[in-house]
Amino acid sequence: MRVLITALVLSAGSLLAHSALAADAEAGEAKFKQLCATCHGPTGQGDGPASAALNPKPRNMSDSEWQESVDDEHIATVISKGGAAVGLSPMMTAFGHLSDEDVDNLVAYIRSLDD
Ligand code: HEC
Repeated sequence: MRVLITALVLSAGSLLAHSALAADAEAGEAKFKQLCATCHGPTGQGDGPASAALNPKPRNMSDSEWQESVDDEHIATVISKGGAAVGLSPMMTAFGHLSDEDVDNLVAYIRSLDD
């Protein structure tokens, strides 16, 4: 029981920490559908219409193992500097023109896809 309460307190704390950053997953979702869905699919499953022509294909972003294996900084770097900046495919182009706020919102949306 005590473990459960501790877990609840910790997750409430991290929810607060997230909202304090003011990253907005809903705004991120709108950007994602606009800029990313052609390749990544509307919900990041890696099934966008352009994905058939890609090798490697974009992964399924709802995969918890991947979610746990990367930090927010990795995701933000891939978005703003492109896949090649972290040793991934250059088909993942850099979105260097996005504001920090847009990038943070996209990261928040991608995090919300975790199964
Ligand atoms: C032209 C197609 C295309 C578009 C548009 C695109 N991506 Fe990608 N993206 C890819 C591909 C392909 C990969 C896989 C690269 C690899 O695994 O080597 C990828 C990988 C990623 C990754 C890294 C996942 C990992 O394996 O660590 C993130 C994060 C990402 N994309 C986010 C975005 C976001 C956010 C947008 C929109 C702002 C976007 N992508 C737009 C093709 C695209």
